[in-house]
Amino acid sequence: MTNNLEALDLKDLPFLNKNLKRIDKAILQSLPPKNLSKISKAIHYSVLNGGKRIRPQLVLLMAETLEVDVSQKTIDLMAASGELIHCYSLIHDDLPSMDDDDFRRGKLSCHKKFDEATAILAGDAIQPLALEVLTTINDKRLMPEQKLQIINLFAKACGPKGMVEGQSRDIDAEGKNIKIDALDEIHYLKTGKLIEACVESICILKNDLPKKHLKAFLDFAKKFGLAFQIKDDILDVLGDEKTIGKPINSDSKHNKATYPSIIGLEASQLRAEKLCLEALKILNKLPYNTDNLIKLSKFIILRNK
Ligand code: IPE
Ligand code: IPE
Ligand code: MG
Ligand code: MG
Ligand code: MG
Repeated sequence: MTNNLEALDLKDLPFLNKNLKRIDKAILQSLPPKNLSKISKAIHYSVLNGGKRIRPQLVLLMAETLEVDVSQKTIDLMAASGELIHCYSLIHDDLPSMDDDDFRRGKLSCHKKFDEATAILAGDAIQPLALEVLTTINDKRLMPEQKLQIINLFAKACGPKGMVEGQSRDIDAEGKNIKIDALDEIHYLKTGKLIEACVESICILKNDLPKKHLKAFLDFAKKFGLAFQIKDDILDVLGDEKTIGKPINSDSKHNKATYPSIIGLEASQLRAEKLCLEALKILNKLPYNTDNLIKLSKFIILRNK
């Protein structure tokens, strides 16, 4: 497997499409019936709407890489849980009191399609739903302690020491010229932790995983997560609105502390590429088949959406 960042064609990623069907099926099965209520309509609208599904893809690809001995349904439910947490965060992230963005995934944001109260409540509903989904896993090959550890992991990733803290610091940093270390920390908390949890959740299922391999996978996830958010910052400046499905220049409009605003576009691009290459190096050294994880890592840097 080459480490060359130029060498990736989307045709090299057919497994993403195949996985997508599994992911969307598990997500749909986790949701309340669409026409049950206004909230369930808003939930369906905000969850089944064409996201890239990077977090659940990571869950599936990690499971394939480590050849974990649990049912496919278990893996799919874990993947759905990770994506649900992410979808909840996007609904709240777009609210007027947060990033105030009217479009998401090429459609009106939840609070624009419905109303603010519905968007707040839909987010409030999806977050515990993600954890509820994990509790419904019924698999003889999954020990109760492992299940508890996975629930703990996802809860921590989105809680006060994870995404919520990151989102709070992100807002506090508006209009400030913060140091790059502080920005790395914000990006890790608001985006990286959930990505790391998706990777770690599968490591939990591998009973005999050597400690040094666990550490390597977590290092990989940290670099992947930071590279992913830096690329997101770059797309806010250079992206095509139609393609990314959300407003461009939203960050500068709100004086957000982002990679491009602090170190400039070119240095941001270089930093993202460097992180990606470091992530690839880690994956290449591991004694598992990491080919598809490598392809996904390249994709998150080369993507235009
Ligand atoms: C956007 O995430 C928000 C970030 C944490 C960077 P994605 O780029 O994964 O958004 P979707 O899920 O594909 O819409
Ligand atoms: C969002 O970061 C992070 C979370 C939702 C936790 P951004 O605010 O940069 O994401 P986009 O650009 O709106 O998708
Ligand atoms: Mg935001
Ligand atoms: Mg935003
Ligand atoms: Mg952004």
